[in-house]
Amino acid sequence: MTKRLTPAPHGLHGRLTVPGDKSISHRALILGAIAEGETTIAHFLAGEDCLTTLAALEQVGVRIDRQGERVTVHGRGWDGLTAPAGPLSMNNSGTTTRLLMGLLAGRPFESQLVGDPSLTRRPMARVSQPLAALGGRVRLSPAGTLPATVHGRPLQPATVEMTVASAQVKSALILAALQAPGQSVIRELLPTRNHTELMLQAFGADLTTASDQQTITVAPVPHLQAQAVAVPGDLSSAAFFLVAGAIVPHSRLTLPALGLNPTRTGILRVLEKMGARLEVTPAPAVAGEARGTVTIESGPLRPITLGAKDVPGLIDELPLVALLAACANGSSRITGAGELRVKESDRIATVCQELAKLGVAIEELPDGMVITGRPDWRIKEAVLDSHGDHRIGMMLAIAALRATRPLELTGEQAVAVSYPAFFVHLAQLKGGA
Ligand code: S3P
Repeated sequence: MTKRLTPAPHGLHGRLTVPGDKSISHRALILGAIAEGETTIAHFLAGEDCLTTLAALEQVGVRIDRQGERVTVHGRGWDGLTAPAGPLSMNNSGTTTRLLMGLLAGRPFESQLVGDPSLTRRPMARVSQPLAALGGRVRLSPAGTLPATVHGRPLQPATVEMTVASAQVKSALILAALQAPGQSVIRELLPTRNHTELMLQAFGADLTTASDQQTITVAPVPHLQAQAVAVPGDLSSAAFFLVAGAIVPHSRLTLPALGLNPTRTGILRVLEKMGARLEVTPAPAVAGEARGTVTIESGPLRPITLGAKDVPGLIDELPLVALLAACANGSSRITGAGELRVKESDRIATVCQELAKLGVAIEELPDGMVITGRPDWRIKEAVLDSHGDHRIGMMLAIAALRATRPLELTGEQAVAVSYPAFFVHLAQLKGGA
């Protein structure tokens, strides 16, 4: 299928509440499943990835009711999880796969995890190897990928040093450590998003994070207590419109009720450093998660240099940073971002390939890219491709707003993974002058 992408010569305007945060929606389902009592989730993201987690939890015996964005998880504690009748479908969701590996590693049954072709190419030994330190046994394909068999068994406490900066891996280790009879310590390579830690604290877990923000100590508790979780708007979804607001002349957008957890706000810091006209109005935090409203206006941008330390705080927004850089006045450089090669697509290759079609001067590095921005692009090819990657598809749809003629996008259905209403919301902001 293809989608026609048209420019927005008058800019984007208006106010938009974006759907719920993907990371927090996954975690609310999982913690609700192992807690005791009814966990309610408001503003749940009903995107394909989170629905994958929901279906997998149902397959291991958890009762979940959903009406649109409102979900009730009927938790019956750890023992409420039971052996699935068949393989668990992970579809395109890396978060589901990795978090469930940790969750299921300590349950007294075997589970098989299978994924779509893109997910089946992604590395999973990054989870199975450190899980082994806690006594977990996960068998992968010879390539270290799905399909996986999780041989659930009793786990033991341990100190685990992580070798990759990944919140998914960290969360898998925390979910496993919760099931071990004693205190475990998990040390991160670099601080990554801490939604699992904050939500576990709200559910009554014995978990602390040291002042270095990357040493997590976790011990078992008799039970976790069901909560009412209010999911904030997903900053990673809002980021598409924030970048649109910054790069499409004559734009002014307001995005309220966003999650502004400092482990996720790298994109706001990048926008500020590049000189974007941005205003952040904080709101009271909920369950430790910062929130607020962001308003953005279009204007000239300066180039930027980003390295490994900057990457975890904007890992999902790096394709958008490349787009911002393509519109900036000068040369930008992103390095230390090798993780992009193992996302839903090889995002270094796909960003470079697709932005080059728009005439953007972009050079691929092993762990990043160099982008030389300029105000006008000379379009070389009008058919863009999402490569089956939701974030690449949405980034290209935003890029097309600045083009001088209509373009086409193939594989646009990929956006449903994290933002099913993306094109509807984009049309609203284009028409809302
Ligand atoms: C996620 C963590 C990130 C991110 C993904 C969601 C999470 O992955 O890219 O979209 O919910 O923990 P890594 O932690 O593997 O970088």
